[in-house]
Amino acid sequence: MIATEPYRPKQFNLSGLKGISDRTLEMHFKLYEGYVKETNNLNERIAEFLKDGKVDQDEMPLYSELKRRLGFEFNGMVLHEYYFGNLKKGGGSEPARSSAFLKAAEASFGSYDVWKADFVGVGKMRGVGWAMCYEQPETGRLSNHWISLHQIGEVAGFNPVLVMDVWEHAFLLDYTPAERPKYIEAFFSNIDWTAVEARLKAKRGATVSR
Ligand SMILES: [Fe+2]
Repeated sequence: MIATEPYRPKQFNLSGLKGISDRTLEMHFKLYEGYVKETNNLNERIAEFLKDGKVDQDEMPLYSELKRRLGFEFNGMVLHEYYFGNLKKGGGSEPARSSAFLKAAEASFGSYDVWKADFVGVGKMRGVGWAMCYEQPETGRLSNHWISLHQIGEVAGFNPVLVMDVWEHAFLLDYTPAERPKYIEAFFSNIDWTAVEARLKAKRGATVSR
C-alpha cells in the first residue's frame, strides 16, 4: 500500500493514573509521536522508490533498510496506541465477573489468576519489549506472548487484546529498572477493562472452545 494520508498521533487523556506519573506519560506521548513521525517519513521515502513503478537492483540495499525500519517504527506507533488505549484514570485491577474477557481467561487458563500470572510473567521477562495478551480469533482463546523491540515475536493473525509496554522508558521516571514488578502492578491498577473487552472479536457470550 502506498500511504496517501500521513498518520496523525492520537490523543489520550490519561492524567492522574495510579503509580504512573503524568511526567512519565508526557514523555511517553512524545516518544509515541516520534514513531508516528518516523512511520510517515519512511512511507514517504519508500513511495519515492516506487514512483517509476519498480525497485531497481541498485536501490535494494537502501530500500531493504527502509522496509525493515518500517516494521519497527510502524509497530512502535501501533503498539503504543493499544497500550495507551487500554489504560484509563479510575481503571480497575480486575475485570467484572460477568465479562467476556474473564470468561475467555478462565476458559483458556483455568482461572483469571493463572492467566494473570502468565501475563505478569511475560511482563517480567528480561529484555526490551512488550507483554501481549492476544485472542486467537477462531477460538476466542487468550494467549500471552513476548515481543522483542516492537516487532519480533508478533503472532500472525492473533488479535491484540491487552498490551503492556515494558520498555524501561515506560516507568523509569517512577521506578528503578529492578522495580519493574511495581510498574506492572501499577499498570494493572489502571487497566480500562471495557476497552480491552471491546477488542475481543469472538462472538460475545459465545462459549470459548478449549
Ligand atoms: Fe513505550
